[in-house]
Amino acid sequence: MIIMKPARKLLFVLCPMLVLGFIYYSSGKLHLHVWGQKQDNASPQLKEPTVAMTAETTAGVDATTEPAVASEPPKNPPPNPNPATGREPVVETVLTEGQVVGQVYDKQGFLLKLDGKLPSELQYKYGNLSEGACKPGYAAAKMTSIYPKFMKPAPMFLDKNFKRLGKVNIYMPPFGFKTQERIIDIILTATKNFGLGPELDSLSCKKCVIIGNGGILSNKSLGSHIDEYDVVVRLNEAPVSGFQKDVGSKTTIRITYPEGAIQKPERYEKDSLFVFSAFKPQDFRWLRQMVFKEKMRGAEGFWKSVAHYVPREPTEMRILNPYFIQEAAFQFIGLPLNNGLMGKGNIPTLGTVAITMALHNCDEVAVAGFGYDMNTPQAPLHYYERVKMSAIKESWTHNISKEKEFLRKLVKAKVIADLTNGI
Ligand SMILES: *[C@@H]1O[C@H](CO)[C@@H](O)[C@H](O)[C@H]1NC(C)=O
Ligand SMILES: *[C@@H]1O[C@H](CO)[C@@H](O)[C@H](O)[C@H]1NC(C)=O
Ligand SMILES: *[C@@H]1O[C@H](CO)[C@@H](O)[C@H](O)[C@H]1NC(C)=O
Repeated sequence: MIIMKPARKLLFVLCPMLVLGFIYYSSGKLHLHVWGQKQDNASPQLKEPTVAMTAETTAGVDATTEPAVASEPPKNPPPNPNPATGREPVVETVLTEGQVVGQVYDKQGFLLKLDGKLPSELQYKYGNLSEGACKPGYAAAKMTSIYPKFMKPAPMFLDKNFKRLGKVNIYMPPFGFKTQERIIDIILTATKNFGLGPELDSLSCKKCVIIGNGGILSNKSLGSHIDEYDVVVRLNEAPVSGFQKDVGSKTTIRITYPEGAIQKPERYEKDSLFVFSAFKPQDFRWLRQMVFKEKMRGAEGFWKSVAHYVPREPTEMRILNPYFIQEAAFQFIGLPLNNGLMGKGNIPTLGTVAITMALHNCDEVAVAGFGYDMNTPQAPLHYYERVKMSAIKESWTHNISKEKEFLRKLVKAKVIADLTNGI
């Protein structure tokens, strides 16, 4: 009896709530249906079986905890700082933007039938440019033509307003910076610069090349061609000295994580930006020590020895926007979300992260030194050492084959140019 009474009261409150909830849910379902539509372009045909719709509705619900799907309104450069309000307009914009009737998309949202042909509107835009001239907006336009969900604005590096970046502020490293806000604030106060530098930032059209470390770069004498790019991106400890003929001599940025960073101070080249990409929370602590030239206390948490000193001024250091890791992993490649945490086979390689960065920040994107030819186990794995291809091990963190599927799409559709034909 004593229990009955409050229970009945509760019922009175619950009933209207349930009704309201149902109404809300039904309207939400319509919305979620549309939302799921754009999230999964694998079946963009509007008439979907009920089963598929249930699955997509679930996907839509997940999106509240996993807003990895673009939540910025396109073509409005300042990203909407509020993911909750930012999501609504996206549905319409995306639906009106790229949904050409009859186009079929794969599970990741890429056009199934890829070819290198320019869509007619791009032909018109670029048709009159002279051979070899930089085509403004080319990479992003081509990307959007095969992947309608693509939203260009995503800054290359974190700046003082980084906390307002949607999508990355709710993930821990490597997919975001959650839990590391304080230390990043401290680091950015010292680095003070957040762009490529006045000269490059003012270019109206930038050509970028990402230099992978593959042995496939050897003996192709691409060096002078590579040096013609406005932005030359190198990764980890890949050397330049002694290899200029094949890999060029210019380095605009070198992207690295603690275990991958050059350890010998004398091997750092001048005039390049030291760009840090975090994969684990403790990586930021390492960066702080490098920025402030502090003595490293212990090296626990790293999977191999790390640099103890980086001979660069804080103003020559940058933090790569972790969005590129997140987008490459979950949207482009389709690696397992694992609740947004690092897990087996869900970390993209640094090379693919760099390509993702370039798609957002360069007008034209080329790559060289990417891809392994597994049919030639005796060929060198890297251009700078004698380790053979056969030494490559099954990776726990990466999923090389899935990643390659993604890169192949980019090359096939000519979103990026592969100078060494290894992808
Ligand atoms: C390209 O040139 C043709 C012929 O001169 C001209 O009609 C057309 O408008 C030009 N297109 C652009 C995008 O400038
Ligand atoms: C590149 O050329 C050098 C000298 O001709 C040769 O020793 C080396 O094996 C070649 N490397 C590759 C990867 O073909
Ligand atoms: C890579 O992805 C494929 C397909 O999803 C899966 O079967 C395979 O186990 C994955 N490999 C790793 C190392 O996670």
